[in-house]
Amino acid sequence: MHTKIVHSSPATHDTPALCLFATPSKPPLLDSIPAQIASALQDSALEVRGELGKIAVFHTLGMIKPDRILVAGTGADITPDAFRIASAHIARKIRDMGLSEFAIRIPPDTVCDVLASTGQIVEGARLALSEFNQYKTAKSNASRPPRLVISSDSTAAMTAAVRRADIISDAVISTRNTANLPPNDCTPLMLADMARKMAGGRTKCTVVSKSALAKGGFGGIMAVGKGSRNDPCLVILEYRGGPARQKPAVLVGKAVTFDTGGISLKPGDRMDEMKFDKCGGCTVLGILQAAAALKLKQNIVGLIPSVENMPGGESYRPGDIIRLYGGKTVEILNTDAEGRLILADALSYAEQHYSPRLIIDFATLTGACIVALGNDVAGMISNSTPLAESLYRSSVRTAEPVWRLPLEDNYARMIKSDVADIKNMGIARSAGTIVAAAFLQEAIKDTPWAHFDIAGVAWTQQATTPKPYNPKGATGFGVRLVMDYLTSADSS
Ligand code: BES
Ligand code: MN
Ligand code: ZN
Repeated sequence: MHTKIVHSSPATHDTPALCLFATPSKPPLLDSIPAQIASALQDSALEVRGELGKIAVFHTLGMIKPDRILVAGTGADITPDAFRIASAHIARKIRDMGLSEFAIRIPPDTVCDVLASTGQIVEGARLALSEFNQYKTAKSNASRPPRLVISSDSTAAMTAAVRRADIISDAVISTRNTANLPPNDCTPLMLADMARKMAGGRTKCTVVSKSALAKGGFGGIMAVGKGSRNDPCLVILEYRGGPARQKPAVLVGKAVTFDTGGISLKPGDRMDEMKFDKCGGCTVLGILQAAAALKLKQNIVGLIPSVENMPGGESYRPGDIIRLYGGKTVEILNTDAEGRLILADALSYAEQHYSPRLIIDFATLTGACIVALGNDVAGMISNSTPLAESLYRSSVRTAEPVWRLPLEDNYARMIKSDVADIKNMGIARSAGTIVAAAFLQEAIKDTPWAHFDIAGVAWTQQATTPKPYNPKGATGFGVRLVMDYLTSADSS
């Protein structure tokens, strides 16, 4: 376990920095401390005024065991993200000061829901300290991040809350680290190797190779993968935590390791960011990692279709007609609308092979989603209102914001083709995000299904509102949301 719990009175806790939270109405209180420390604490609380993002630090000059006390504001109303943000500010401050360790004191239950807040505090600190530096020759001091200690009662429930938050933070950090890999070091088969390393215990990994995809009729993955010398594949992770006959929840993630647009080539400006077009797949890897580490008592399958979308003499072209897994024919109008093709194959495969209890997919699918919702909110589209509402509650609790877009029948009309069953693009620039989802829905029969378009939120972009626990690069969006959903009581 990363995070340690220490149960001692604050004054006797031997630590470089004891960190406390202050709300505008409830300044932090410590018992059995000298009067000078109490008054320094009061001054610091006045300075911070309980404002979120503000921090005050003072040295204790040997009067109590902690070398320093750090006071961090939480803001007036404790939103579901307040402790995560405040804790992230603390962690960054500690790192900037170059300290090796810090202890965060969990506020009492008169201030917050102790167990939920503890999870948020651990996540905020751990995620704030995650840094992708494996390509930096000279490591910054972040390569050895300060150790987090939680100062509180070490009850069984508290230990479980810290452990859970540690596991979920580990999974978000792995998701970020994989998603941040450059496209020359993360081809589809390299991604498959990373998935294979997760197998063992109750998790099985199967990689469907290019030749098996061709034989199996995965026409979407095959078409998009054709233009690259890096072979496509379909990664399957099966986690068996539930009874053998229990239908699994299937998670599908788009993993285009690089999206040039193909023959319908993208403009060069910021094309490098298309290394993040694998983020959906990375999120699914992260969720399976966390599910296995937490030993969830349910069956979960991850399906990750992975390709590189390249232009070349072998590439698929606008005008081509291909046949998806499941049999539908598609007229290709734009080779840059590739994500829906590989996802459709995987979604149909999910329905036919697993009769899942539900399907959730993650994809950096449309630029239109950024036009509609910006860079702070993901698009959600679902054929099931109970599922969408349950996921929405998880989104609020985890502060991974999503907004549901409609999927009325008329959108299916926009992808009717004159020459094939459907086409891979809609009409002009109308409702691009919904049209893409309408395409995906063609692969779904009546399984409850939710689609997350994470084009705007999967990595930090120009217009992203900064969060102190999301450093530059991939965010790992969706891992915390789905883990909340899978483990919350209302997820049936
Ligand atoms: N991966 C892109 C979507 C994207 C663009 C995500 C920018 C994040 C930032 C996707 O494959 C794509 O190119 N979609 C096209 C679809 C269009 C051709 C119908 C788009 O959004 O322009
Ligand atoms: Mn594309
Ligand atoms: Zn793409």
